[in-house]
Amino acid sequence: MAKNKKFFYCTKCGATYGKWQGQCSACKEWDSISEEQETHNQLGEGGAKISFVALDGKQDLPERTTTGMEEFDRVCGGGLVDSMCILVGGDPGIGKSTILLQVTSALAEKIETAYISGEESIDQIRIRAKRLHKEKSNVSLASTNSMRDIVTTLDVANPPKVVIIDSIQTLYYDGLDSAPGTVSQVRYCASELVRLAKKRNFVLIIVGHVTKEGNIAGPRVLEHMVDTVLYFEGDRGHQFRILRAVKNRFGATDEIGVFEMTDMGLSEVHNPSALFLNDRQENVHGSCVFAGMEGTRPVLMEIQALVATSSLGMPRRSVLGWESSRLSMILAVLEARCGLQFSNHDVYLNIAGGIKINEPGADLAVAAALCSALSGNSVPNDAIVFGEIGLSGEIRSVGQSENRLKEATKLGFTKAIIPHRNSETKNTIQLKTISHIIELVNLFKND
Ligand code: TYD
Ligand code: MG
Repeated sequence: MAKNKKFFYCTKCGATYGKWQGQCSACKEWDSISEEQETHNQLGEGGAKISFVALDGKQDLPERTTTGMEEFDRVCGGGLVDSMCILVGGDPGIGKSTILLQVTSALAEKIETAYISGEESIDQIRIRAKRLHKEKSNVSLASTNSMRDIVTTLDVANPPKVVIIDSIQTLYYDGLDSAPGTVSQVRYCASELVRLAKKRNFVLIIVGHVTKEGNIAGPRVLEHMVDTVLYFEGDRGHQFRILRAVKNRFGATDEIGVFEMTDMGLSEVHNPSALFLNDRQENVHGSCVFAGMEGTRPVLMEIQALVATSSLGMPRRSVLGWESSRLSMILAVLEARCGLQFSNHDVYLNIAGGIKINEPGADLAVAAALCSALSGNSVPNDAIVFGEIGLSGEIRSVGQSENRLKEATKLGFTKAIIPHRNSETKNTIQLKTISHIIELVNLFKND
């Protein structure tokens, strides 16, 4: 017998409680507990016995359906897999609906696809399709937010092969008391849709909004339910967008796809390094090219630093696209190990183009940009930099150095400032290997 039970939920970590409390005991977040209601089914007896098998055995590689958009396929691990569930998160207006409409219409050329929107009317979607010149594609379109109707439509013997739900926060199941977008609605609707996708064997792509803190709205459990979580990132002031796989049961995580927003939707960028370095000015001090890795892909990015005399008692430290604690660390190492003075200077650090860098391999490039900005001497135009910096000022090696150097050579760079431990390479690029930060600082010395 199903019975409705009220309970309390932490909207941050998903922990449940019998009564309300001000702070979540599990994740220590304040004011995150909200009242929820959920249908509980009594777990009866009579389940079938599970038969275990050996770990070693024959395995079939999943068959992939490619979408025709290479960058999208890449983040999915090489294409879509049967009954795969994908969650696409991102800020409003970043282009989630646009990319999914493009993906669906590309797929519609070979398989049956459906696009269900709870956010926009049929007219709005048609206008977008026209703009993308995809209005003739064979996509089945619907605008609804009734979970009951969606399940009735899809729980059939031959549902469409790919179903897009835009977005999970707009769906509403009338069996629950709470409003659309609440934790229990989002949780319930998502789990039912995932269950249905596995049962009826269709690919499910769910759009999820992102909260101020950058999480997909709703509890973290939403991320656990699906096979793949993709985040659509980018700065609305810039043209390019990055689709990043943060979880993928069918492929590598950290893989990125790069797109550029144009008048006719998102176009794929096959050579992101060239795009990111497009507006780079030559011989400017405070600028440095970092050879980074995004998943399996090397990407060159420009790091810019500005060091200006400060009149403030506590000088300003401003960072865009990188961790501010990591900047503080590098400044501290430069001060303590090399005697540089930043304490009476404001420091601004920016990754050009609005991209974000997550790897510590950028330390050396950041340090080079800072030294260059402070000394007024520029980093050679045709040089790339990478390496991690330790607290004692030692330069630590980074992974995939060969790939980074290869990308640099491909884009016409002829010099590389890299960790000593990465010096073994087949690449013919001119190397300057360093093992301590002081060697980098000496490169910028004014004699
Ligand atoms: P949209 O896909 O609606 O974003 P989301 O679903 O993530 O909220 O993207 C909307 C933005 O993209 C909007 O600001 C207009 C812009 N855009 C273009 O620049 N070119 C286009 O061809 C399209 C369709 C949208
Ligand atoms: Mg949208």
